[in-house]
Amino acid sequence: MFNIILFGPPGSGKGTQSEKIVDKFGLVHLSTGNLLRQEIADKTALGLEAKKLMDRGQLVPDEVVIGMIDNCIENHADAKGFLFDGFPRTVAQAEALDKLLELKKTSIGKMIALEVSEDELVTRLLKRGETSGRSDDTNEEIIRNRFAVYKKDTSQVAEHYKEQNKFEMVKGEGSVDDIFELLRQAIERGSSAT
Ligand code: AP5
Ligand code: MG
Repeated sequence: MFNIILFGPPGSGKGTQSEKIVDKFGLVHLSTGNLLRQEIADKTALGLEAKKLMDRGQLVPDEVVIGMIDNCIENHADAKGFLFDGFPRTVAQAEALDKLLELKKTSIGKMIALEVSEDELVTRLLKRGETSGRSDDTNEEIIRNRFAVYKKDTSQVAEHYKEQNKFEMVKGEGSVDDIFELLRQAIERGSSAT
């Protein structure tokens, strides 16, 4: 199995590039944001609770997202590998993911981070907010709060994988195809861990 984490702040292109990566490499795409939005659309109890936090740009509790990821890994026993998008977002989630994968006798091969300036991120998210229907995209204050949460809670997840020599940064500005080419090369180089 080869498992990848696509990392980066809100709007950095994780979802856009994930679709291309899973097509190319035959991985299963696991986006906690998409899974949570599906719960909201299905009006489940979990979805209703999550919506209150997502609408404010706050994180959903670790145990909720870890449980969702655990279920998905169990449901894809034959997967060639997983592409994690928007997860892990806290060090506790990263530690839980490492343990879940260890139980499956596998591990994260690589974390690739998309680097994009904050001004570009705001422009992209406000533009998407005109059509996406995502309540967390329409208001600049909520978008800024998502960045603040990213800096406070999520950025340290990169350190966790740097310590494992699995981290690589890729420039996330430019055309979608050019960025994908950089990601493809990073994936094919594999992990720098020995
Ligand atoms: P989530 O759904 O993960 O959202 P996010 O991280 O805020 O990021 P986005 O999905 O908005 O951006 P993206 O990086 O995927 O970029 P995209 O490709 O869409 O999380 C939402 C919420 O759910 C969180 O705030 C939290 O409440 C909760 N949540 C989710 N996971 C959680 C977890 N693990 N723990 C706790 N809570 C969790 O691109 C953005 C836009 O830019 C698009 O319009 C796209 O078309 C455009 N674009 C993409 N690439 C380019 C390019 N190269 N040039 C120009 N435009 C581009
Ligand atoms: Mg996304």
